[in-house]
Amino acid sequence: MNRFDGKNVLLTGAASGIGRATAVRLLAEGATVFAVDRHEDGLAETGRLAGGTELLGGRFVAHAADLAREEAVVSAAAAAVARLGRVDVLANVAGVLRVTPMESVGLDDYRDIFAVNVFAPVMLCREVLPHIPDRTGVIVNVTSTAATKAHPGMTGYAASKGALLSFSISLAAELASRRIRVVPVSPGGVATPLTANRETFAGVDTSWYARTYPLWGRPGRPEDIAGTIAYVASADGAYLNGVEVRVDGGSHS
Ligand SMILES: NC(=O)c1ccc[n+]([C@@H]2O[C@H](COP(=O)([O-])OP(=O)(O)OC[C@H]3O[C@@H](n4cnc5c(N)ncnc54)[C@H](O)[C@@H]3O)[C@@H](O)[C@H]2O)c1
Repeated sequence: MNRFDGKNVLLTGAASGIGRATAVRLLAEGATVFAVDRHEDGLAETGRLAGGTELLGGRFVAHAADLAREEAVVSAAAAAVARLGRVDVLANVAGVLRVTPMESVGLDDYRDIFAVNVFAPVMLCREVLPHIPDRTGVIVNVTSTAATKAHPGMTGYAASKGALLSFSISLAAELASRRIRVVPVSPGGVATPLTANRETFAGVDTSWYARTYPLWGRPGRPEDIAGTIAYVASADGAYLNGVEVRVDGGSHS
């Protein structure tokens, strides 16, 4: 028996990295996944990696949308509900990273980061909530260890993840009467296109980053985080609620 047989998942950021690995994992465990991302080709590749449409039947649905735009978020939620009916799991994984030294920070940097990392998950929660079942529904918000640990040069990103973490903790308490769980999952450094983009880090000293992996001497893999998200979202995680789940290999700085 697969843990996600008969479960419907709305997953953002599914075209790459952690979101892609999560889609592949949840599909392998029987879920139907409504996958949202701005990259249509990446979504198609995720479907292919998960086994292809023939094998998956109608269990993988790709929906291209720019989550930085409120109307696109609202219509993605409506499309997901129209397709799935009930949303057992909402997994907000999509995110953006900017590295900007404080002297060069503009409010637009913060607005752009917050639009994807905070406002989109918040609006998706609001839109999908009426369709999340009481007692079994789960919301997983992917935050970051940057929410609570110093990440020099990444103040906007860190602040956005801190906001998403706080939001998740309070929402968990708010939804407790419906027995809907809300769990923020905070990865440490994970090797994905988000962190591999050299342009993002141009001119910034990131040598500290590589020293923070005491467990295996390597950053996390997307699959490490996907496995945790699957656990948290499944009945195995039924007693986890409103608490940050850090998946960072024991990272210490
Ligand atoms: N990689 C890390 O080290 C790390 C660490 C902690 C937290 N995280 C978080 O994990 C999540 C996934 O990151 P990742 O490392 O897999 O990065 P990634 O860049 O590989 O994937 C992010 C996905 O989000 C999508 N996305 C970004 N902006 C979007 C928008 N406006 N509309 C729709 N989709 C959009 C991208 O297209 C991409 O597919 C993010 O929230 C990130 O902040 C990553």
